[in-house]
Amino acid sequence: MRRLWAVSAILLSAGCQPAVHYEKPEPTPEPTKAAVEAPRAVEQDIVWMNPRPQEIQSDAPIEFIHETDGPEWAKLRRLWNPPLTEKERAAAVLTLGPVAAVALAASKAVVKVKVPAGLDDPRHSIPSSNPPTLHKWELGRRLFYDKKWLTDSAGESCATCHDSHTGFADNARDHYGLNTPTLVNCVYNGRQFWDGRAGVLEEVVQRTMDDETAPAKGTAFRHVWSGAVGRLRARRFEYEHRFLSAFGTLPTQDAVGKALATYMRTLLAGDSVHDRALAAQVADHSSELKVEHYEKALDGAALKDLKIDEKTKADAARKIYRGYRLFNDLEEHKTGCILCHGGREFTDGRFHNLGVGFNKFDPGEEPGRFASLPVGEKEGRLIGAYKTPTLRGLSHTAPYFHDGSAATLEEALQFHTDGGQRNEYLDPELQKRDLLAPEREALVLFLRALDGKDVDLPPPE
Ligand code: HEC
Ligand code: HEC
Repeated sequence: MRRLWAVSAILLSAGCQPAVHYEKPEPTPEPTKAAVEAPRAVEQDIVWMNPRPQEIQSDAPIEFIHETDGPEWAKLRRLWNPPLTEKERAAAVLTLGPVAAVALAASKAVVKVKVPAGLDDPRHSIPSSNPPTLHKWELGRRLFYDKKWLTDSAGESCATCHDSHTGFADNARDHYGLNTPTLVNCVYNGRQFWDGRAGVLEEVVQRTMDDETAPAKGTAFRHVWSGAVGRLRARRFEYEHRFLSAFGTLPTQDAVGKALATYMRTLLAGDSVHDRALAAQVADHSSELKVEHYEKALDGAALKDLKIDEKTKADAARKIYRGYRLFNDLEEHKTGCILCHGGREFTDGRFHNLGVGFNKFDPGEEPGRFASLPVGEKEGRLIGAYKTPTLRGLSHTAPYFHDGSAATLEEALQFHTDGGQRNEYLDPELQKRDLLAPEREALVLFLRALDGKDVDLPPPE
């Protein structure tokens, strides 16, 4: 038994979580007062527990509805569409024809999430081990905003650093040298953290069994909160029934991760000026994107967000269009942005050394992606390399770069077009580019036209 768990823990820490088989654990002891007082005595079931199916209450699956779903997508007004209440159902059945009424009466309750225009289909990015449901989501949202479980001394929640008012990032420069990334559209992240050391979103609080006991404070910010699962178990009155109804178990590392990931996967924002211009191009059956498509996409609200005077709508459209062409290397003045910031999330999901914050280091202490790669996968080019971030929502998330060293978008752009900071491992795709001031302005305006609407979810309870 002990050996099996050790193997499981190793597998988990290697990031390949879905295919782990667990032995049925012995009946779970209720957390005793002593266990609460001595959180270091961790039970092996801290990682995962066999669910007690009788405890799982009727739950509604969450379904993502994407643009490609056509009429069903178009019909939904908001991001979050909860299941109908009994009363709403009864009323709806009355208004429908007999066939539709029977179908509705027989159908199950589901939550529908309308994926905002312009985004990829998130259904391909959700692991089959964690199908989203309403109970998981509600629990995840509660945990996200709860200030009393991450640390012994109350006060900090996920939302402290991933604040909804600043694009689920923060405007602080520094968490032991690291800048908080946005969680908006994080469902599409191929890997987590600037150095990609975690695979799935389920792993961002604790990743191995030892994380529950490891000291909370080290020299580096590991994004691990030890003792967190124990603290949740101790708060039986608030949490036990919620975990039981979502997972059929007490709080475990696995359940905490799954609940939080379910919530984070619905933090979606799209329908930016650029997305709307692309939609106008499709509606036009036009083979290329044109100034007029941006003009169609710019309404009063968009102009206000971009801080552009209404009267200059045509000028604004021309300028964003210019930025679009520069960004995509369609102009003679090549920028190369598209080499790394392609796709609908404007990231290749890969790791590059731009020389940001690059200093001397001792052998064995190489920074960036290199450090978190296992033996056998190390490559020199990944020394000092960090994950290419999405470029959506940048207006809310200053400062920029993994260390927050660029205060403004203009600075971040300048750093790129200077060819980054010279060093032995600098990515060859980053080159010095000579851009004129109006070209820089157009590029920055284009970046801001990628912002998208606010995340439209019900607020925390
Ligand atoms: C003290 C501030 C702070 C708190 C509290 C915090 N985070 Fe973070 N978060 C960060 C920083 C900084 C990073 C980047 C860390 C790194 O790359 O090593 C990050 C990274 C992440 C990422 C990876 C995003 C990406 O694009 O790679 C996710 C997901 C995440 N946090 C979720 C959470 C959740 C869920 C919680 C609550 C359990 C939480 N965070 C609490 C600061 C914080
Ligand atoms: C060689 C790949 C590469 C190219 C080319 C590239 N970028 Fe980046 N970009 C990155 C990486 C990697 C980061 C994060 C670097 C870090 O923090 O260490 C980044 C960060 C950024 C950021 C900061 C985002 C944030 O949330 O912190 C902006 C803005 C940006 N890039 C815009 C551009 C623009 C505009 C261009 C074209 C002029 C461009 N990039 C070209 C790879 C690239």
